[in-house]
Amino acid sequence: MNVLVIGSGGREHAILKALKKSPRVENLYCMKGNAGTAEIATNVDVDFMNAEAVKKYVLKHPEIDYFVVTPDDPLAEGLVDELESMGKRCFGPNRAAAKIESSKSFAKELMRKYGIPTARSESFTDYGKALEYVRKQGAPIVLKADGLALGKGVLICDTMAQAEECLKEIMLDKTFGNAGDCVVVEELMKGLKYIPGEEVSLLCFTDGKTVKPMISACDHKRAADGDKGLNTGGMGTFAPCPFFTPEDEEEVMRTIVRPTVDAMRAEGTPFKGCLYFGLMRTDRGYKVVEYNSRFGDPETQVILPMLKTDLLDIFEAVTDERLSDIDIEWDDGACVCVVLASGGYPIHYERGDEIYVGKISGADIVHAGTARKGGKLVTNGGRVLNVVAKGKNIDEARLLAYSAASQIEWKGMQYRSDIGLKYREG
Ligand code: AMP
Ligand code: GLY
Repeated sequence: MNVLVIGSGGREHAILKALKKSPRVENLYCMKGNAGTAEIATNVDVDFMNAEAVKKYVLKHPEIDYFVVTPDDPLAEGLVDELESMGKRCFGPNRAAAKIESSKSFAKELMRKYGIPTARSESFTDYGKALEYVRKQGAPIVLKADGLALGKGVLICDTMAQAEECLKEIMLDKTFGNAGDCVVVEELMKGLKYIPGEEVSLLCFTDGKTVKPMISACDHKRAADGDKGLNTGGMGTFAPCPFFTPEDEEEVMRTIVRPTVDAMRAEGTPFKGCLYFGLMRTDRGYKVVEYNSRFGDPETQVILPMLKTDLLDIFEAVTDERLSDIDIEWDDGACVCVVLASGGYPIHYERGDEIYVGKISGADIVHAGTARKGGKLVTNGGRVLNVVAKGKNIDEARLLAYSAASQIEWKGMQYRSDIGLKYREG
């Protein structure tokens, strides 16, 4: 089969690497891809946010049998619907199902209606009513722009002055554009402290009826060591989470995962693809922090290397709604990913700096924001490379990952030194 993966980051490179292992895969393509994807796939220089341009390319390339759409915005815009209307087979939710991520108020209403545990919240399109509610609730309080906002639309406000300022930024100043037409005002949840960032990511394959969890993963969202600094797309991950026990998984499957998949089906918008549950363990059990309608980045980079089952087999079983027929198997041990980022990320950073890579052993390099310029490997984004290593346990994997990271350098490169360092058994 010839498979096209849509997206350009580390997540897409990791998916391509996993697909490459399938004996049934003939050629791989990546739209638009990076310098790493170019090594195992044909990069396609078409803007995937331009549905007409994508359709034109697809018409010209009937040899491509299968499409994997991974980033949130083309999913929210309905790229899967477009491809399916051309008779193409895809992995990824359609526009109606992707709403579980692209509209936080939709997700909150779904959880309220079906009794899925999450933080208490109210949604508002009227600034005056939102302000009145915020004042009534008091600080600390969480404000969320309803739509997609590059992961930046969540504001945790410790004081009332901050809350009023943030509400104005979202609803009146439109800092996040139309994503702020509606605001979700949410209570601040308190997680149990032994979990880094107090959160667990559980990614699941689902065909709309059957749902099968992957191994759990833990992201490190803040830019600096000790969970300090600004929120980022994710600075590193490990999997599985030792503190996420089989009993925890059973609880989450029973109270959150299966009810969500059933709710989406009951609403007439069955979700097919990878459904990502961002979870916080509170003193009242696990609650949903957020849903994503896609693979996480950099969670995918530590989950897929542990997958023993053929990824293309799973993808097709999801598309054909026969996921119940497939057994998904995982390696023992652990996997760690350290994100190497450009200096200044997540605010302002340079592109085009040459990357020097020494001798790498015991780890795999996954590319995110990289490009080739005159034959040289250069930086081309905030998160640039992911160093991924597997080991008997997290400690072994993290030593291998950091040893490989020390072989890589460019001007201003930064990374956290504590990925996988802080974890405890629950
Ligand atoms: P999101 O973009 O929804 O993933 O939110 C970004 C981050 O904000 C999450 O990963 C949490 O760390 C934090 N967060 C979001 N909602 C809440 C909440 N209700 N209580 C505490 N932290 C939250
Ligand atoms: N790593 C978090 C995300 O992909 O949204």
